[in-house]
Amino acid sequence: CGIVGYVGERNSLDVLMGGLSRLEYRGYDSAGIAIVNDEGVIETAKRAGKLQVLADELDANPPHRGRTGIGHTRWATHGGPTDRNAHPHLGDEGRLALIHNGIIENFAELKDELLAGGATFESETDTEVAAVLLGREYRTTGDLREAFRNTVSRLDGAFTLLAVHRDEPGVVVGARRNSPLVIGLGEGENFLGSDVAAFVEYTKRAVAIGQDQIVTITADEVTVTDFAGETVEVEPFDVAWDASAAEKGGWSSFMRKEVSEQPEAVRNTLLGRVVDHQVVIPELADFGDEELRAVRRITVIACGTAAYAGMVAKYAIEQWARVPVEVELSHEFRYREPVLDADTLVVSISQSGETMDTLMAVKYAREMGARTISICNTQGATIPRESHAVVYTHAGPEVAVASTKAFVAQIAALYLFGLHLARVRGTLTAEQLAEQLAELQAVPEKLETVLGQAERVGELAHWMADTRSVLFLGRHVGYPIAMEGALKLKELAYIHAEGFAAGELKHGPIALIEPGQPVFVVVPSPRGSATLHPKVVSNIQEIRARGARVIAIAEAGDAAVLPFADEVLRIPLAAPLFEPLLAVVPLQIFAMELAQAKGLDVDQPRNLAKSVTVE
Ligand code: G6P
Repeated sequence: CGIVGYVGERNSLDVLMGGLSRLEYRGYDSAGIAIVNDEGVIETAKRAGKLQVLADELDANPPHRGRTGIGHTRWATHGGPTDRNAHPHLGDEGRLALIHNGIIENFAELKDELLAGGATFESETDTEVAAVLLGREYRTTGDLREAFRNTVSRLDGAFTLLAVHRDEPGVVVGARRNSPLVIGLGEGENFLGSDVAAFVEYTKRAVAIGQDQIVTITADEVTVTDFAGETVEVEPFDVAWDASAAEKGGWSSFMRKEVSEQPEAVRNTLLGRVVDHQVVIPELADFGDEELRAVRRITVIACGTAAYAGMVAKYAIEQWARVPVEVELSHEFRYREPVLDADTLVVSISQSGETMDTLMAVKYAREMGARTISICNTQGATIPRESHAVVYTHAGPEVAVASTKAFVAQIAALYLFGLHLARVRGTLTAEQLAEQLAELQAVPEKLETVLGQAERVGELAHWMADTRSVLFLGRHVGYPIAMEGALKLKELAYIHAEGFAAGELKHGPIALIEPGQPVFVVVPSPRGSATLHPKVVSNIQEIRARGARVIAIAEAGDAAVLPFADEVLRIPLAAPLFEPLLAVVPLQIFAMELAQAKGLDVDQPRNLAKSVTVE
C-alpha cells in the first residue's frame, strides 16, 4: 500500500492526489483521502478501483479546502477491494480518520474487546479496529499524541499508520513497525510518505523513520519518538532522485520509459565505482578484506525478478571468487532451518527495499549471526537500514510494477561486488579483473544497440497476440533469463509461460511441445561458450522436430541457429557472463508489446503490487 500525509499552506488535496499517483504502483485496488478542512471538519472520500476512480469522484464532489490531510492507495489484505474496505477508516464518531499499510495480527482479539465495550464497525478490515481503538483512547486522554502512542503499543504485526483528528487540525501523527514511512521536510510544510516519491516534487530533504517509532508533523515542526514517547534524534538526508525521474515524461507508459533507461541504469550503477581498472565500493568499508577472505558461503535472498538477478550473479561470483553461492527465495529461506554462521554472508536484493518477505529473511539471518549486505534501489528504505551494509543500484525510481531497469542494475551491482570479492580473495589476476571490468563497462552501449531493435520485437509480439502459452529455454546464465522472460510475460500479458533449463527439457517439459508451440531460446555465444553452444543448438533441433516455433536470441553473427530458428533476435557480442544483461531486453519488450497488443495496462497489471509489504 502507499501512504501520504501533509500539513502546510497548500491545498492538501492536491498534495495528496499528486503523492498517491506516484505511490499507486504500491497497490491499486482502491484509494482514499481524508482532509481536515478549514472549518475543522473531517471530509473523506474513498473508492474501489484505480486512483482515477477516486479522482473522478473528487472532481464531481470536491471537498472543502484543508491544510491537513492523509491519503492511501491499497493492495487488499483483509477484506476485498470494496469502497467500504478502502481507507481511511473513521473513529471517535467521525472525528478522526486513519490509514494503514500492513497487517494487524491481533485485530480479532482487539475487535472483540472493542465490541464488548459497545463499539460498532462498518468494514471487515483490521484497520478499522485501529481507528476505533484510537478513538477510544482519544476520548480517555484528550490528546492525539498520547492516544496514538497508547494505540500503537497495543498492536502486533506490521504497520504504518497515519491519523488526523478534527480537534487537532494541523497535526498528522504516524507510526511504523516493519512497514516503511519517510518524512519530507519542507518550509512551513511537512510531508509523510511510504517512500520519497510521495513528496520529491516539493522537497528533497527527507528523514527515514526507524523501527517502532512515532512521528508527529505540523506545518513547522517534526518530532520523532519511540513508542514510549522518548525523543529520537533523526538524521536528514538529501534525496538523489530528480522529481521528473518519477514522471512519465512523453512516454506512453512507465514501463516503456524504464526499459529505455536501462543503459543509464547500468551506467549510473557503475559510476564512480570503477577506478583504474579496480572496483571501489566505499559503502563496503565495514567489510574489511580479512572478513571477505573469511567468507565460506554466500546466500542470496530475494523475491521475483530480484531473485533471478541473484541467480545470474551466482554463476559470476562462483566463477570469479570461487566461493559457493546459493540463491533462495526469501520466504522459503525464512521458514526452514538454514545453516548460517558468521562465515556466511547473506546478500539480499530488493528494488524497493521494502518487500516484507525479504525484510523478514534479512532480520532472521542477522539473528542467526550472519553478516548482511543489501543491494537496493531506494534510499532510506527498510532493508538497507536493517543490513550491515548497502550497495545501492542507481537505476532511478522504477514505477512500473514489473521490474526492468532495476534488474539490469542489480546484476551490475552484484558483478561489481563479485569482482571486488575476487580481487580480495586473489582468485582473479589483475589482467583478468581489468578484462571483466571492461566488459561490464561496455554493457550500457551494447544495451543501446539492443534497444535499437525494439521495433522488430514489437512486430513479433503483435503477430503473436493470440498466443496461449509460451516457453523459454536457456542454459547457464541464460537459464535465469529464460525464467525472467517467462515471469515478464505472466505479469504483463497474463499468458501462461514457463522458463526451463534447456538441458532439463528432455527430462519432462519436452512433452509440452506440440506443433506451433512458441519457444524462446536464449542461445549462448559460439565463441564464449564453445561447449554449450552446440548443446543448445541441439536442444533447438529437438523441439523443432516436434513442431515448436522457435524464436532464438543469439549473438550477432551466430549463423548456426539460422537453419533451425523461425525468428532470430540478435544481441551484440559479449563475454558469456555479460550476455544476460543484453538477452533479457528483447524478452522484456516482447512481454510489454504483447500486453499492449491485448490492450492491457502494462504499468499496473492486475492483482500485483510493486512492493509487497505483507508476508
Ligand atoms: C513484487 C513485484 C515484482 C518484484 C518483487 C520483488 O512481487 O511484483 O516485480 O520483482 O516484488 O520486489 P523488490 O522490491 O524486493 O525487488
